[in-house]
Amino acid sequence: MKHLESRIAVVTGGTRGIGRAISLALADSGAKVYALYARSRKNAEALEEEASSKGLEIMTIRGDLSHEKSYKQSLALLHDSCDRVDVLVHSAASGVHRKAMELSERHLKWTFDINFFAVHKLTLDLIGKMGRGGRIIGITSPGGTRVIPKYAAVASTKGAMEALFRHYASELAPDGIAVNLVCPGLVMTEAAKALPELHEMLDKTLEYTPSDKLTTPEDVAELVRFLTTEAAAQIIGQNLVIDGGKGLFA
Ligand SMILES: NC(=O)c1ccc[n+]([C@@H]2O[C@H](COP(=O)([O-])OP(=O)(O)OC[C@H]3O[C@@H](n4cnc5c(N)ncnc54)[C@H](OP(=O)(O)O)[C@@H]3O)[C@@H](O)[C@H]2O)c1
Repeated sequence: MKHLESRIAVVTGGTRGIGRAISLALADSGAKVYALYARSRKNAEALEEEASSKGLEIMTIRGDLSHEKSYKQSLALLHDSCDRVDVLVHSAASGVHRKAMELSERHLKWTFDINFFAVHKLTLDLIGKMGRGGRIIGITSPGGTRVIPKYAAVASTKGAMEALFRHYASELAPDGIAVNLVCPGLVMTEAAKALPELHEMLDKTLEYTPSDKLTTPEDVAELVRFLTTEAAAQIIGQNLVIDGGKGLFA
């Protein structure tokens, strides 16, 4: 029997990039997966088709989680469809790419609305459906603790998310719910391709990654899958870096 059989997983940003690989990995472990996304129906349909061709259960839900009306519609659909939630993965993120000195309050607010406030709202709104053995996993970034050029807005949201998750972890562990973060190095998704200094980052990443390979969405998904197993139940409040060793270098 697969370890997530008869379990329900919700993955935000679950139709593209890292989130897509996570949706597939959790469904492959037996979970019924609800993959949330903002706009791209094409990616959602392609994922549903791939899942059904593999005999996996992935349902997609469209809605901008940073927009109140659309958030409420997504939540209502989740409430109608799920009598429980066993795994909640926060992978959706977006953001303005600018230097800190070029960030207006509006830029920061927009980035925080999706990367931070929507994460907290969804956690609060679904926690009542999660019982012992539950897992909450956030996807953070090396930018949460270090400088990535023109990444000040997203970096701030990731740092805030990391602090929030430490508190989630300590408050929810007594209820048998394990909360952790996964921190991938550079992964070549559509989001990464939009980074203003991608070529320099890619060169540096390749030069300073001792494993000599870039981290893939599937590498990240395998770590998330492991965190959902019983073997990982005692891992609480950690930020697990998956970057081929790149973060070892000053
Ligand atoms: N790629 C990297 O190098 C890297 C490194 C470290 C950490 N991360 C983190 O890993 C996570 C996934 O990144 P990725 O590179 O896979 O991103 P991605 O390819 O850009 O995918 C982002 C996903 O989030 C959804 N999304 C964006 N804004 C949303 C909103 N307002 N409401 C609902 N859904 C929204 C997107 O939906 P649509 O497809 O409809 O737009 C998409 O499914 C992020 O948290 C990111 O910060 C990425």
